[in-house]
Amino acid sequence: MGLVPKIISFPKIGNSSLGYISLAEKESLPFQVNRIYWTYYTPESVERGGHSHLELQQILVAVAGQITVKTEMPGGHKQIFLLDSPDKGLYIPRLCWREMKYTHNAVQICIASLAYSEDDYIRNYDEFLKLKG
Ligand code: TYD
Repeated sequence: MGLVPKIISFPKIGNSSLGYISLAEKESLPFQVNRIYWTYYTPESVERGGHSHLELQQILVAVAGQITVKTEMPGGHKQIFLLDSPDKGLYIPRLCWREMKYTHNAVQICIASLAYSEDDYIRNYDEFLKLKG
């Protein structure tokens, strides 16, 4: 079975009078985690992403605000996901092209399978289109 982008639901513990905690335990994640980074203050006019990865797998979480993620897999399957809740994540498999837009208050956490390496990026869309998956 090929891996595809999909929404992951994290546990949500608490209630409206106390507040909530969500968590990602390693046993519940589809890969071993090697890096976590976060992005914030992204202007609403800016589209981020615009790349694919040879090996990296990621999970994006909007811990605040909203993120719209457009994905495209090699072969052409396109989807649009809305991350609008801190207990929800988007799993992004290797080779998936992604483009993200953020609300002004959005804080994105990215849980990543590998250390940062520019060599893992495919930033050229024409090069991405040549991938077979
Ligand atoms: P990039 O992954 O292209 O961001 P996004 O997908 O959110 O648009 O990274 C943006 C810049 O930050 C790029 O110059 C590389 C740098 N960067 C690092 O140095 N280390 C990292 O772990 C990440 C994620 C990015």
